[in-house]
This record gives sequence, structure tokens and C-alpha cells, in this order.
Amino acid sequence: MARLFSLPCVVILYLCAAFNAAGAEVPAATQKAAPPLNVEARNTRFAERHPDQFASWQATSEQGAREDALADDPRLVILWAGYAFSKDYNKPRGHAYALTDMRETLRTGAPQGSEDGPQPMACWSCKSPDVAREIAQNGEDNYFHGKWARGGPLIVNQLGCADCHNTGSPEFARGEPALRLSRPYAARAMEAINTPFEHASRFDQQSMVCGQCHVEYYFSGDNKQVTFPWKKGTAVENIEALYDELSFSDWTHQLSRTPMLKAQHPEYETWSKGIHGQNNVTCIDCHMPKLQNKQGKLYTSHKIGNPFDNFEQTCATCHTQSKDALKNVVAERKRAIEEIKLKVEDQLVHAHFEAKAAWDAGATQKEMAPVLLNIRHAQWRWDFSIASHGIHMHAPEVALRMLGTALDEAAQARVKLLRILATKGITAPVALPDISSKEKAQQAIGLNIAADAKAKAAFIETVVPRWEKEAQRTGLLDK
Ligand code: HEC
Ligand code: HEC
Ligand code: HEC
Ligand code: HEC
Repeated sequence: MARLFSLPCVVILYLCAAFNAAGAEVPAATQKAAPPLNVEARNTRFAERHPDQFASWQATSEQGAREDALADDPRLVILWAGYAFSKDYNKPRGHAYALTDMRETLRTGAPQGSEDGPQPMACWSCKSPDVAREIAQNGEDNYFHGKWARGGPLIVNQLGCADCHNTGSPEFARGEPALRLSRPYAARAMEAINTPFEHASRFDQQSMVCGQCHVEYYFSGDNKQVTFPWKKGTAVENIEALYDELSFSDWTHQLSRTPMLKAQHPEYETWSKGIHGQNNVTCIDCHMPKLQNKQGKLYTSHKIGNPFDNFEQTCATCHTQSKDALKNVVAERKRAIEEIKLKVEDQLVHAHFEAKAAWDAGATQKEMAPVLLNIRHAQWRWDFSIASHGIHMHAPEVALRMLGTALDEAAQARVKLLRILATKGITAPVALPDISSKEKAQQAIGLNIAADAKAKAAFIETVVPRWEKEAQRTGLLDK
């Protein structure tokens, strides 16, 4: 915001100065243009100077297990029918894989030329420090314009130093954190709900850097600009109200024809409402413990993963319970959340098929509108909780509350659907197809991903190496 408003503010300050002749000296507006920021996105350049941070950062590559969320729970295929997530969706893994996974998911397709779709540039935004460099050099509008494939030869370094640090600063060179919000859209959103990053406490800053990516966002405007929907607040209902007001939807559901919302990964929002967030226990306190190197010097571990792997330097810095005791608490909460989560999913799967049956039987838009609103809200709240990875740890009570209201919305949809179906003479339960596996569920919605997978394999073999070669030629990527 500050940047957008700086011009009018300068004008107002000058006016004040002019009309304040008799009064005290008003400080002149010394809004010099910020010097262009020197962003070094090549992580390898910091290996020598910051060996402990570098080595631990690199070790996120040990968190490489790929878990197919759709195979794990085929209901998801139905819930996301008509949207690319029904083709391919894996659980998160180490930061070292962010860029690779973006290139390899079926959701980004297999574009050949730089103008080819399906996704916009915005999709790179939480994957690489090259995004920080591009924006610092060329501005946000320039960065966002065009299709995802345009970024192929530009966005080439793995999620790293310049995503969170001012890598060109003397402070960073000296070994100080020099944390920075490298995404201006995140900086504006944080400023609107909290304080400007520069004035925030060290603790707030620590969580804010993670909140650049671990948040809910949507693509707004013709340029598909990443925007955080926090205008009305950061709770699930606040964001829902904003999206409703904007008549925003991510896609139209293939079966129920509902204008749907897809939650991204709102960990920052849900963490802030949990007991740790409320006490300003930051993401770093648990995910980036201070460890000792071989010389006995403390450094911040950048192997961001499961905090239980360093229990002594994470939970135990504040808690006296044993590791097993706390692990059991977290596991029990996870189980409770899973149980209600699956109940919501079952209700929603039925609701989508029942809505389809109602449309097929001739239901009108007017009859269906209230049903579709219930489905939209139910699935949004369900998604917000399940897409908040680690929510069973961060804010279990928030998850249970959101899922509770989701269950209620889904039940309301189904009651209304039963009435509509009855008026069309349909009284027998609407049967579900076999969705007992990912493949069967994909078949049930007529999805054949074999062709997509083949095109993707060829893309990984031919286009990605071309991108990397080009980046090495231009010097963006070290050989
Ligand atoms: C996801 C964000 C993130 C990334 C990526 C990241 N850092 Fe950090 N880094 C942090 C945070 C948070 C701290 C701790 C800040 C504090 O203590 O207030 C930190 C601290 C540091 C420090 C200060 C000394 C210390 O150990 O506390 C150095 C030096 C550093 N990082 C280097 C690097 C290097 C080199 C890379 C890339 C290889 C990197 N960081 C990548 C977030 C990040
Ligand atoms: C530039 C965007 C970005 C920033 C900044 C960022 N993350 Fe991530 N994070 C991601 C992405 C993307 C993934 C998923 C990577 C994948 O699955 O390929 C991820 C994955 C994770 C995971 C899962 C790791 C695993 O092994 O399962 C954790 C935990 C995590 N991030 C915590 C943090 C914390 C804590 C911070 C702040 C210090 C942070 N992240 C900053 C984008 C980011
Ligand atoms: C009080 C400690 C604590 C804080 C604070 C915390 N986390 Fe976590 N987080 C955990 C634990 C523990 C897990 C793993 C839970 C489990 O074992 O299932 C986790 C899981 C995650 C995951 C999911 C990893 C996966 O592979 O599924 C992500 C992503 C994540 N945290 C990001 C964040 C971000 C971002 C913040 C700050 C906004 C944050 N966490 C704050 C303790 C914490
Ligand atoms: C920097 C300090 C700090 C760290 C690190 C920390 N906690 Fe906490 N934790 C707190 C505070 C403060 C509270 C709130 C205490 C209260 O209000 O009684 C709390 C509360 C809790 C509670 C009880 C509240 C509830 O949700 O019912 C649990 C369980 C818990 N923490 C687990 C963990 C686990 C597991 C980890 C490590 C992954 C962890 N904490 C890391 C400070 C911390």
C-alpha cells in the first residue's frame, strides 16, 4: 500500500508545509526512490559464506517422499471434478522440491511455446527466489503478465535464500538474518492486517516470511495478480464473505454446477488463530530450531520439516512434557480431525451427485441457487481446513469448528436436494458410482489422464532441459 500511495502522500505533505508557514517546521517529505534492490537468486552463491545454513537448507531434499493425496482419498477426485486438482495432487514435501513439483504436476500441463497455457505466470509465485529477482528488477506487472511457460527460462533456482533474505545486503553478508518480504503483494497484505514489515517485531517478521507463501490467495484482474483476500479479515468466514461479494469462483463444478472455491494452503491464517499463534510462538520456534555446528556455534537450521525431529530444540524449549506425550496429543487431534473431515467429504460427494440428478431431472436455476450456495460454503470450509497442512498441530479447535460448520452446510444442501428431487418424482436414493480408487473415481467423472501424463513426460524430457540451458546461457542459473 505504502508504495501505491506514496505519490499523493508526498503531495499532501507539501501542501501542509505550505499552509503551515507560521507553525513548527514540518519535516520535508524525503521520499527518495528506493535504490534498486540487488537480489541474488542463485542459492549456490551462499554456500561458502553461510555453510551451515546452506547445508541444512539443502538437506530439505531428504524430505523427498511423494505422497499421492488422490490415491490416499479418492473422494477428492469427485470434490474437485472439473478442476485440474482432480487430475493430480500430492502432499507437500521439502522446500528443495517446490520448483520441481510445479514443473512436474499435471496441473501445469505440457506447454511447448512461451504463450501456451493452461496456467498463468502467477503459479510460479511461491516456488523460487527468481520471483523475488524478477519483481525487484522489472516490477510486479511485468512479472505477472503472460502464461506460466514464459517463466520457464527465468524461474530456475530452487526455493531459497532470496525468498526470505535481502541477499544483496551487507547485513546478510555479515551473517545477520536481514529478513525481507520479497513479494510486494504479501508485504501490502501484511501491512493491512498487522504492521509494515519494517516496523514489525523480530518474532512477527519470522512468521511473516513464511506467510508470503503459506497462505490463501487468489488471482485477480486481467494480469492474474496474486492477491491475499484479507480485506474483511483472515478467518474462513471473512474470506468467504469477500469471495461471495466479488462473485469470485475458481471453477464450476462438473457435476453439481456449483461456482466453487479452492483453498490454497492457509497455514499462516490458521496458525495465527491457534494457541501458539495467539501467544506469538512463531513458525521458526518450531520449524527452524537453533542447532550447534561442529565448532559448537549456534545457527538456525534451514532443514524445515517436522519439528518432532528436533524435539529438544523445538517443543522442549518451552514444554516440560515428554516427546511421546506431546506426539500422542498431536496424533489424537489428527485422528479426531480426520474423522469429521471424512464425514464432510462423504456428505459433499453425495451432494454433488444429487445436485447432478436434480439438474438432469429438470431443476431450475432458481430452485438450485440456495443448494449451490450451501455446497460452495461447505466445501470451502472443508478445504480451508484440510489445505491448512499441519492444522491438527497449529489450530485443532479451529479445524474442528470449520469442519463442523461445513458438515452443517452440506447437510442443509442435501435436505434441500431431497425436496427438489421429490418434486421431480425421484424418491429413491441417488446411487454413487464406484469411487473406491483414484483411477475409478477419475473414470466416474470421465477423466482420462493417460494422454496428459504422456505429454507431461515428454515435456519433462525436452522442454525443462531447454529452459535450464537457456538460464545457464543467460547466467540466471549456475552450471
Ligand atoms: C523460508 C525462509 C528462508 C529461506 C529459504 C532461507 N532462510 Fe535463512 N533464515 C530464515 C530465518 C527465519 C532465519 C532466522 C531469523 C531470526 O533468527 O530472526 C534465518 C537466518 C539466517 C541467517 C542468520 C544466521 C542464523 O543462522 O540465524 C543466515 C546467515 C541465513 N539464514 C542464510 C541463509 C541462506 C544462505 C539461505 C539459502 C541457502 C537461506 N538462509 C534460506 C529464513 C530463511
Ligand atoms: C517462497 C514460498 C515459500 C516460503 C517463503 C516458505 N515456504 Fe514452506 N513450502 C512452500 C512450498 C511450495 C512447499 C511444498 C513443496 C513441495 O511439496 O514441492 C512448502 C513446504 C513446506 C513444508 C513441508 C515440508 C515437508 O517435508 O513436508 C513445511 C513444514 C514448510 N513449508 C514450512 C515453512 C516455514 C516454517 C516457512 C518460513 C520459515 C516457509 N515454509 C516458507 C513454499 C514456501
Ligand atoms: C508450536 C509449534 C509449531 C508452530 C508455531 C508452527 N508449526 Fe507447523 N507444524 C508443527 C508440527 C509439530 C507439525 C507436524 C505435525 C505432525 O506431526 O503431523 C507441523 C506441520 C506443518 C506443515 C505440514 C507439513 C506436512 O508435510 O504436512 C506445514 C506446511 C507447516 N507446519 C507450516 C507452518 C507455518 C507456515 C507456520 C507459521 C505460520 C507453522 N507451521 C507454525 C509445529 C508448529
Ligand atoms: C516458544 C515456546 C513454545 C514452543 C517452542 C512450543 N510451544 Fe506449545 N505452547 C506454548 C504456549 C505459550 C502455550 C499456551 C500455554 C497456555 O496458554 O497455557 C502452548 C500450548 C501448547 C499445548 C496445549 C494447548 C492446547 O492446544 O491444548 C500443546 C499440546 C502444545 N503447546 C504442544 C506443543 C508442541 C507439540 C510443540 C513442538 C512441536 C510446542 N508446543 C512448541 C509455547 C510453546
